[in-house]
Formats: sequence, C-alpha cells, structure tokens
Amino acid sequence: MTTSAEPRDLSVLAIDIAREAGGLAARRRREGVAIAATKSGLADIVTEADREVEALIRAWLAESRPSDGFLGEESGASEATSEITWVVDPIDGTVNYTYGIPQYAVSIAAVSGSADPATWTALAGVVFNPASGELFHASAGGGAWLGDERLAVAEPGPAGALLATGFGYDPATHAPTLERLARVMPLARDIRRLGSAALDLAFVAAGRLDGYYERGLHAWDHAAGALLVDEAGGRTGGAPHGRPGREMTIAAGPGLFDRLAAAVAD
Ligand code: IPD
Ligand code: CA
Repeated sequence: MTTSAEPRDLSVLAIDIAREAGGLAARRRREGVAIAATKSGLADIVTEADREVEALIRAWLAESRPSDGFLGEESGASEATSEITWVVDPIDGTVNYTYGIPQYAVSIAAVSGSADPATWTALAGVVFNPASGELFHASAGGGAWLGDERLAVAEPGPAGALLATGFGYDPATHAPTLERLARVMPLARDIRRLGSAALDLAFVAAGRLDGYYERGLHAWDHAAGALLVDEAGGRTGGAPHGRPGREMTIAAGPGLFDRLAAAVAD
C-alpha cells in the first residue's frame, strides 16, 4: 500500500498496471472477441474484455491505493478520501479491437482535485498499445516519453497540418461533425481517423500528428493523452478557451493550436 502523490511514483504504478492490463487485452483478443452489449447506440459497444481489463485495473488500485478515487468507462466512479482519482479507459478503441485493427490502448491517468476535467490537475498518464508494444507515459513536470525516448510535439510544414479527429457514435452528430471538418480542411495536408482518442493524443505528443480535435469525448478518453501532449510542449484545450471536455478536445503544437481552435469553434 502507498499514499505518495508524487507524479513520478503515480506514473511508475500506472506503467506496471497498464502493461499487465494490456497483456490481458491482447490475450483476450487472440482468443476471439465477442460484443457483450451496446451502450449509447448500436455503434457504441463493450466487450467482455473491456470489463475484465477494467476490473483488473480497479482491483490493483484498490489493493495498492485504497484511499484513491476511481472513474472508469465500464464500472463507474468511487469517491476518493485522498486527493487522487484514477481515470481509466480499459480499452480505448474498442471498435478497432473488435475488428482486429491493432490500434487500441489501455489509458490510465492519475489526477488531483476533483474527477472533473474542467478543474482537475493531471499528475500522471499512461497510454499503452499492447498490439504495437508502444507505451507512452508522462508525469506532471517530468516530460512525456515513449519508452525511454523523450517526446516533443511537431509543427506543420508548408503542405499543412496532418490532423486526426473522430466521429461520435450518435448519427445525429454526423452532419455538424462533417461541417466542422470542412472548416478545418484548409489547415490540413490530410486527415486521419485512427479510432482511439488516447492514441491520437499520444501521437500528437510524439509529433506523429500535428493536431487532433474531437467533440463528445469522455474524461477517460483524454485524461492521460492530454497530459502527454502538455508534457511534450503542446497545448490542449476545449470549447472556446476551456479545458478538454465533452464539448470539444483540441491538441496541437503551440504554433497551430489557436488556428485549429478557431476552425473548430461553432
Ligand atoms: C472511442 C475512441 C474513438 C473516439 C470515440 C471514443 P472507445 O472510445 O476513442 O476514437 O472517436 O469518441 O468514444 O469507445 O473505443 O473506448
Ligand atoms: Ca474510450
């Protein structure tokens, strides 16, 4: 049991848990994946593996840090008696996972304050893709890393920005999403829709994408990835001048951020 609130200690624990959790997700993937239920709509799915992986993460944290809070995509929230809450997406990119596309990740963040992204302070974040073996990690003030390589965001070249985005599961959001994309296109050399918000953010941190934006994300989708971007020298934000949230999540290098934010604003 430990109660340290040092970002580096939280990150070390999150790395250990993410490796184990990712290993379980990959094993279940090899054994064959079945959809367990739909959530907000037919396209929004959960597998038994999502639930099992979240249970592993939650049990490990309950054992090693019993006073911390928890907010997970599949099993909900429990209040903290310490200042720390863990924000967890057991498999971000569940649709990719189900189809066998090797672009999905375990995302684990530790935040202080409240479990609300509008006010929390992110302390540590890990995004682990077990299919590629890539583990992205960051701690507040400690930089962002891919393994032992320090990450830095990129800025677009003369051809424009390589951008990623996502489309919500609710078909009613598709028309406004496409209108927004049309406004963004003048900034873009090309667009990617990779299917995992956590990895999209990790890729911005790694300079593999110049920017990313998406409306409709939940706290667990962006908690770890946004810290990666901030610690890699990038900027993250949300609806005009706010923090990342459901209304909007934007991530880019400092040279692109304001232009991207202006293009996605309603
Ligand atoms: C989804 C992915 C996707 C994004 C969706 C998220 P899930 O998470 O991050 O890229 O477009 O908004 O809900 O459902 O795979 O955990
Ligand atoms: Ca997710």
